[in-house]
Amino acid sequence: MGSTTPLTNNKKLLAWVDEMAKMCQPDQVIWCDGSKEEYDEMADLLVKSGTYVKLNEDKRPNSYWAISDPADVARVEDRTFVCTKKEEDAGPNNNWCDPEKMRAEMTVLYTGSMKGRAMYVVPFSMGPLGSKIAHIGIELTDSPYVANNLKIMTRMGKPVLDVLGDGVFIPCLHSVGSPLEEGQQDVPWPCNADNKYITHFPAERTIWSYGSGYGGNALLGKKCFALRIASSMAREEGWLAEHMLILGITPPNGEKKYITAAFPSACGKTNLAMLNATIPGWKVECVGDDIAWMKFGEDGRLYAINPEAGYFGVAPGTSMKTNPNCMITMKENSIFTNVAYTEDGDVWWEEMTDEPPARLTDWKGNEWTPETGTPAAHPNARFTAHACQNPVIDPAWEDPKGVPISAFLFGGRRASVVPLIHESFSWQHGTFLGSIASSEKTAAAAGKVGELRYDPFAMLPFCGYHMGDYFKHWLEIGKKTDPDKLPKIFYVNWFRKGEDGKFLWPGYGENSRVLKWVIERVCGDGKAEETPIGLIPTNDALDLDGLDISESDLKELLKVDPEEWKKQIPLIREHLAKFGDRLPEGLKDEIDALEKRLEAS
Ligand code: GTP
Ligand code: SPV
Ligand code: MN
Repeated sequence: MGSTTPLTNNKKLLAWVDEMAKMCQPDQVIWCDGSKEEYDEMADLLVKSGTYVKLNEDKRPNSYWAISDPADVARVEDRTFVCTKKEEDAGPNNNWCDPEKMRAEMTVLYTGSMKGRAMYVVPFSMGPLGSKIAHIGIELTDSPYVANNLKIMTRMGKPVLDVLGDGVFIPCLHSVGSPLEEGQQDVPWPCNADNKYITHFPAERTIWSYGSGYGGNALLGKKCFALRIASSMAREEGWLAEHMLILGITPPNGEKKYITAAFPSACGKTNLAMLNATIPGWKVECVGDDIAWMKFGEDGRLYAINPEAGYFGVAPGTSMKTNPNCMITMKENSIFTNVAYTEDGDVWWEEMTDEPPARLTDWKGNEWTPETGTPAAHPNARFTAHACQNPVIDPAWEDPKGVPISAFLFGGRRASVVPLIHESFSWQHGTFLGSIASSEKTAAAAGKVGELRYDPFAMLPFCGYHMGDYFKHWLEIGKKTDPDKLPKIFYVNWFRKGEDGKFLWPGYGENSRVLKWVIERVCGDGKAEETPIGLIPTNDALDLDGLDISESDLKELLKVDPEEWKKQIPLIREHLAKFGDRLPEGLKDEIDALEKRLEAS
C-alpha cells in the first residue's frame, strides 16, 4: 500500500513531512499514490480494524459502513480557530487565538500523537489537475479512514505530486490524537473527543487539526482549505471561495445557464444541485454540491469550478423520491458513516423508504426496531460518493476554466417571514441579502438544532477572516466588471411552514419552478412585482402547471408582510452591528433603505 519512500523531490514538502513526523512520531510514513489497489488495501485494513463493515457486494458493490465515536459526529464550531496575528482580523465570526500560542499548545498535543500508527501523506488537488483556478494541498493524517475518504472527495495521489513539482502546496496536518502504546488494542473510531482543535493559520496558509476524525473536522481539503483558507486567499487575490452548489440549467430553447446557491449546512444544496426538474422540457445538471471557487474570465464574467471530486452528503431524508440522482450516485464505491445497517448487509436511514425495515443495527451499533424510538441513523449521517457516478453530472464539471455564472441564490431554513423567492434590486442590495441570510440551525454542527441564527452567505462558520471585510470584498467584486456581466442575486426559502406546522412548498424537484423564474429574470422576460424587501414573482409568473397547491398556500408562500419585516429590523441591526466599524457603508445604507421602504408601505 502506498510507498514508504517519498514520491516527490519537492524539498519543502520533504522537509515538512520530516519535521511533522519527528513531532508526531508515527511508526511509519506512507506516501499515498492514489491507486485503486491502495484504496482497496486501505479499506481491507479498515475492515480488519473494525472501522469498516463491508456491505453486501450484491446490494452495494465495493462500499463500506462506518460508525463513529458518539462524541465525534459533526463539525465543532466552538473548537474551530482562526489564528491571525491580530485578534480583530479574525472577526466576531471566528474563535481566535494567537498563532504562536496556538502552535505551542498544539505542538505539545501533537508530540507523539501518532505513536503506534502510520502517518499517511495524502497529496490532493482542489479542482481539476492543472486548472488555473485549482490549488494543491498535502494532508498528513494518522487516519486511514480519512485517507480513504480523500480518495473519493479529491483528485488524490501521485499525479498531484507530478503536477506540483517544486511548487507551493497548502500544508494540512491531521491527527486523531489517540496514540497507541506498545500492544494496546485500537478502537474502531479513534479520536480525542474532549480535546478537539480545528485550527487555521491564514498568514502561513496552514491547517492543523487534532482530535476528530469526522467530516469537515478531518477531511481538510473541504471546509478548512477550500473555504476558510481559500476565502482568505481569495480576498487577497480578488476572487471568491464560497459555500455554494453549482448547477447548469437548460430551458426548452436550449440556452443553458449556470447558477450557484449558498445555503447553510443541511439546508438543501446537494438536493438542489441534483434535482430532476418537474417542469417539462427543463433539465438540471450538477457541477458541484457544496463549494464554488470563482474567478473573473477575460470576458469580465465570473467563472466557477467545483474544487471537489466527490460528495460528503447528508444521508437522512435522501430517497428515490426526493433525490434519485443522489441515490444512484452512491449505489456503489461509496462510504457510509453513521447510517444504520440492514440485516442483508446494506444501509438505511430515516425516510430512505416509506416503511422502515423491521430490524436494523443503528448508528451506535445497537439493535433497532421501529419501536426503539430513537433515530436509526444519526441526523448528520453522511455518504461519501464519487461525483463522476452522478447520472446528472454536468459535461463541463471538470472544465479547467470553469462555467460562467448568471445568478447567485442565497437562502436558509425559515419557518416564517421569508418568502419563497425574492430578487435583489442591485448588486449592493444582493450583497445585503447575503449578509442577512438566516436559518434555523441543523445537525451539521454540534449545538442546539432549530435555533435561529444569522448565517451571512452561509459562510458564518467558514469565512477565514473578519466577516465585515468579507462583505466589503463582495461589494468590491461588484465594482470589478460591468454591472450587466455580474450574476443577478436572489433569496429563496423552501422551508416556510403553514399554521399546521407543515412545509407549504413541496420542495426538491418542484424547486425547478423557482429556478425557471430565476432564468426568466436573468433573460429579462420574467414578470416581477416590487415589494419593500425586493422583487417577487407576480401572481401568474411562477409556472405551477401540474402542481397541486392551494391558492391560499401560494399566497402565504409569497407573502411579504411589512409588519413582520419591521420586527426583523432590530434583529438585523443587532446582527450587523457585530461587525462594528468594519461593516461597509454600502450595507448600512441598505438597512436604512429597507427600513424606509417598509415604513412607506
Ligand atoms: P451540507 O452538506 O451540510 O452543506 O448540506 P446541504 O446544504 O447540501 O443539504 P442537503 O441537500 O443535504 O439537505 C439537507 C436536508 O434537507 C435533507 O434531509 C434534505 O432531505 C432536506 N431538504 C433538501 N432540500 C429540501 C427541500 O427543497 N424541501 C425540504 N422540505 N427539505 C429539503
Ligand atoms: C457542512 O457541514 O456544510 C458539510 C459537511 O458540508 S462537513 O464536511 O462536515 O463540513
Ligand atoms: Mn456544506
